[in-house]
This record gives sequence, structure tokens and C-alpha cells, in this order.
Amino acid sequence: MTVTPAPALGAPLERVESREKVAGEARYAYEYGGDDLAYAWIVGATVARGSVRAVHAPSSPGLIAVLSHSNAPVLRPGGDPELLVLQSPAVAYRGQVVALVVAESLEEAREAARLVRVEYDAEPHDVLLRPDHPKLYKPDKVNPAYPTDTEHGDFDAAFAAADVRVDATYETPALHNNPIEPHATTAMWDGGGVTLYDATQGAAAARGPLADVLGLEPEQVRVIAPHVGGGFGSKGTPRPNAVLAALAAKATGRPVKLAVTRQQMFKLTGYRTPTIQRLRLGASADGRLKAIAHEVAEQSSTLREFAEQTAVATRMMYAGANRRTAHRLVRLDVPTPSWMRAPGECPGMFALESAIDELAAACGIDPVELRIRNEPERAPEEDVPFSSRHLVACLREGAARFGWASRARRRRGPYLYGSGVAASTYPAMRRPARATARELGDGRYEVRVAAADIGTGARTVLTQIAADALGVDAGAVTMQIGDSAFGPAPVAGGSAGTASWGSAVAGACRVLREQRGGEAVHDTAAEIEAEEKYARHAFGAQFVEARVDTYTGEVRVERMLGAFAAGHILNPRTAHSQFVGAMTMGVGMALFEESVLDLEFGDYLNHDLSQYHVPVHADIRDVDAVWLEEEDPHLNPMGSKGIGEIGIVGAAAAVANAVHDATGIRFRSLPLRPDRVLDALERA
Ligand code: MOS
Repeated sequence: MTVTPAPALGAPLERVESREKVAGEARYAYEYGGDDLAYAWIVGATVARGSVRAVHAPSSPGLIAVLSHSNAPVLRPGGDPELLVLQSPAVAYRGQVVALVVAESLEEAREAARLVRVEYDAEPHDVLLRPDHPKLYKPDKVNPAYPTDTEHGDFDAAFAAADVRVDATYETPALHNNPIEPHATTAMWDGGGVTLYDATQGAAAARGPLADVLGLEPEQVRVIAPHVGGGFGSKGTPRPNAVLAALAAKATGRPVKLAVTRQQMFKLTGYRTPTIQRLRLGASADGRLKAIAHEVAEQSSTLREFAEQTAVATRMMYAGANRRTAHRLVRLDVPTPSWMRAPGECPGMFALESAIDELAAACGIDPVELRIRNEPERAPEEDVPFSSRHLVACLREGAARFGWASRARRRRGPYLYGSGVAASTYPAMRRPARATARELGDGRYEVRVAAADIGTGARTVLTQIAADALGVDAGAVTMQIGDSAFGPAPVAGGSAGTASWGSAVAGACRVLREQRGGEAVHDTAAEIEAEEKYARHAFGAQFVEARVDTYTGEVRVERMLGAFAAGHILNPRTAHSQFVGAMTMGVGMALFEESVLDLEFGDYLNHDLSQYHVPVHADIRDVDAVWLEEEDPHLNPMGSKGIGEIGIVGAAAAVANAVHDATGIRFRSLPLRPDRVLDALERA
């Protein structure tokens, strides 16, 4: 495959739908439907475990129906248990849907929902992940299909014989995805099936699982999502709202709208599992790794196994002959965790990159230099070549631009300043997709692919890819996305959207150009199946200067720079926004984000943005991202790697490492809350 970047690719095209969005004309899932709409509202369980004994419907103005397990339409069993709503009286977690109210207006639905009375038989619950939980077990695989454990060489012997050892346990809390648009669905049935306007990261990918539970053929379900207000993974799989809206529309014979509230999102739309991670690193005195072990405990629900792939990045980051990774899971009375930006790499690299920093300190070696010394020739566990790997270049370029060599730990008044570094990585994946390109006449073209633009700029970059392949201006191309009717396509997930949809778009447009008009379809399933075996990953290095207030314990990120190598950057404007957005989310993980568990209620207590804190403008001062041009012929027609997630990977470790540099205190549990920092400073 030859990579020929053309001028349209690489240009900082503005978002093609920006006018529509700014003018309020872009329609989101909750903004469809006509005059006969009915409105649904979810009633959630107020016990964390047990069963529903009775649901008492109120008499309330405008009330059309109250659905519960005793009267809801029957779903087809076998699919995702989180989607099998209102089928059983069992309660698996606090907040699980126990009833759905349908009314003539939103206000009437909400009021009736308030008046619904639910009786429960409550049972004792178990919601706390602990490293010695008796029910920890070894899942068969980790998300999506990685081996649960790996073992290479003799870790125990090599660790025991190492000159320098680090043995430390790191903890990350449960984290909740908070896209600006809450999950929502508008559902309408017609003779043949159901149409769902749904806030989803993948209209085509959602169709199958939804058809499954609704007892329909996939062709009878159409999912439409031209605009989506963020996702971070939480909209990567269909959520209860889509099924509930369809059920309510079926039961009432009306089109129905349902939005999950911000509070309900903390129960019903996924989250990042908390993790407890033990890292052991053994090295020679000159900092060369001889032994690496990464062992993880994490949680899932009683409904379904979701096993986060927390230790997978440790399998390919650094050289070293003796290695072990392991994941253990416990099924608790909690909602099912799911994808949240860089599931696996993000929490796992917090632990690994903190431990590497500890090792560098123990060896007395600069942490940039220590990483460079442990650069592997080939992917260490898979034993295949990297398609391209420029971690060292990112470390050097980032260090030069950040001023790493001249950094100075210092104190000014009550403030301590320090600097930290961490590496980033994320797989460069591609999944099968189908695109259709059509000549409209007058030099205009339309291209269809069931992509999702969740705020990333996907529609824009796909327009560029199409224009490039057609050899026309971007303005000549209309990109249609977000409709399951456009054929199979993967979710906007795994940072694989652009590579996946873009390969199909480029293929269809090339064929159209060669055949000089008409319509062309391209499906990438066969070419992806035939790909050669390489370890394909993007890499990066994150540098942080932190300021610690010794009076209040407040940590501020003064400066942050990410240097990334992610193939060809197809649109520097949207790419910069992706990198910086993810780094900002990483600052949130480092300093603010934490879902706080209440053991008695069996639930996360903070469930809105006043108590679940994400960074705001005042928290983000000087964050910047740069990238190296990278030639990699083993990727896709654009030569691109995904960029949606790598920016969050390593970011929290870079912050914690900077705080260690400033204070001499190692923080191994996130977030670095002021009270924790202050306590540690007082004890130091
Ligand atoms: Mo991303 S968490 O793969 O949507």
C-alpha cells in the first residue's frame, strides 16, 4: 500500500456543520418527532439489590401509561442484560429502571414519575471493590478479546535478582462519562418496524443489539444519529433509553421521546471501573528493565461481565524479558462498567507511568532517559514488528519544546513547583465499513457512510478524505453520516472511526473517480481481513508543570505539553482540539473526577456536575499539543492513526509525577484532591 498525502488531507478545514450547529439547526436525538409525541420518564430503583414487589401507578394529569415488569412488552432474551429492561422484578443495582412513565407532556411525565410508588424486597448489597475480595475471579478474556493474563520469562526470579525494585499499588476511582448531551431516544413504529433517533456513537453498530432485544430482524430497525453531543464511550453501546423508548412507543401506539437525566446517567449509561493495580518493576542499576508485573483488580456488575483491559499497554510499552500481567474481576451490586475514553490504557498507564517515574527516581536517572533506555525493538509480548513507533522522538521533541532540561523544582511563597513526564500510547485500529459515493451532477458528489460525529470533527475529515480521493474541492462533497441505512460501519470508538470509515470512503470515491460517474460502493471487510501482522500503535509524551499550594493542598497544572506521533494528521484544526480535549480530560482524572461510593446506600453519591467535577476554563491554563509527521505504510489509505483517546493516556501520571517532583510525595491514588495533598504535606 502506498501512502500519498494530498493537499485536501492535512488542511485545517473548519467543521462543515459548524454553521448548522451555531445556528441551532443541527438536530439531536431528542429533537425529532411530530405533534402526536408522548413523553417518557424513567423511575429508578431505590435499593441496590433485591426485587420489586409492586409498582403503584398514580392517577395524574396527562398520564398515558406506567410500564413495569408486570405489564411491559416482552423482549427477546439473550442480549445485553442491561438492555432487557422491565422484564423481571430483580434489582441488580440502585437506579436500575423499575418503571417507565409515559404522559402527554414532559412535565406530566416527570410529575407522574414522582408519584409512582414502588415496593421492594430489599437484600443486603455488596458494592465495594477490594483487593482481597473473596469473589475475585479470572475472566476468560478482557475487553474486547485480549488474553486475561500473560507470562513471559521468569518474573519472580528476575524481580528478586534486580538491582533496583519498585513495588507499588495504585488506585483509580470509578469515573463517569459526562458528554454534554445526555442519552436520549425518539422512537416511532410503522408497519415494518421501528425508527430510533438515538444519541449513539454508532447508528449501524447499535442496530443489531437493539433488533435482538426487540425481537426484530435488523432490517426492521433503523437508527438515525446525524449529530451527537459527545460520548467518550458511553454512547458506544446502546443504552436502556433506546429500548425503553421503543417499548413505550409500542405499548402506547405513539411516537415517544425519552431523555436520561444527568443524574440518571450516573446509573444507566456506563462508567469507568475503579481499579486497584499492583506494579512491580525490577531493573539493573543503569535502569534497564529486567522484570515487569502489572496485576489488576476491578469490578463488573452481577448482570454482565465487562472486564476492562487495564494492563494491556504494559504488554507493549517497554523492553524486558520477564513479564507478567493479570486481571481479576469481582461482580458487585453495581451498574455495569463500560467504555470511557481509552478504557484500559488510561487507568493502566496511570499506574505504569507512575511506577516508571518511581523507578527513575530510585535509579537516579532522568525519567525521559530511563524510558529511552527501555525502548523495545519489537512488540515485546506479541513478538511482531511495530508498524511505526516514535515514542523516543516524542519524548525528545516534547522535552525540547517544554524545556525539560532546564526545569527547576522551586518554591515561591506558599507554592511548590515541579515537573513531570509520562508516556502515552493507544492502538491504531481499523474495522470493516461500507461507503457509497454518488455523482450528483454539476460537479457535486454525495458520500454516505454510517459514521458518527460525536463532536470530534469526523464529518469534516471524512469530507476531506472523499474530496482527496475524488480529486475535487471539499466544498463539492456532501457527507451523509449517522444512519444505519447507509450500511455496516463501526462505532466512533477505539480511536478507530476515521481510519475505518475513511478507508471505505476513500475506496468508494476512488472507484467512482475511475468509473467516471454514477455510483460506487466500497466495503473494507476483505482488505482488513488480509492485513499483515504488525503492532500498530500511536505514541506520545506528556509533560506537565504543576503548582502545589501548601496552604490549601490545591494542585494546579501550570503548563502541559503533549507531543504525539499518530501517522498523518488529516486536519490539524480538529486534531489539535482532539489532543487538547483528551489532555484536559486527563487533568480532570488527575485532579477532580471521582465517583464517590456510599456503602450504606450502595451507590455513587455524586451524580451531577456540581458534585462530580470536571475541569473548567479556569483549571486549564496553558495546555498544548504538537505532533511529529509520521510515515507508516501499514495503516490505511490515509496513513493515519486514531487520535481521540491517546491524549488522555499518561496525562494523569504526568500530573502526579510533577506533584511528586514538587513535593517529594508520591500520590498513588487519584484524584489528587486538596484534602489528600494537604494531609500528605502535613505528615511529610
Ligand atoms: Mo471510546 S471509550 O473507544 O468511545
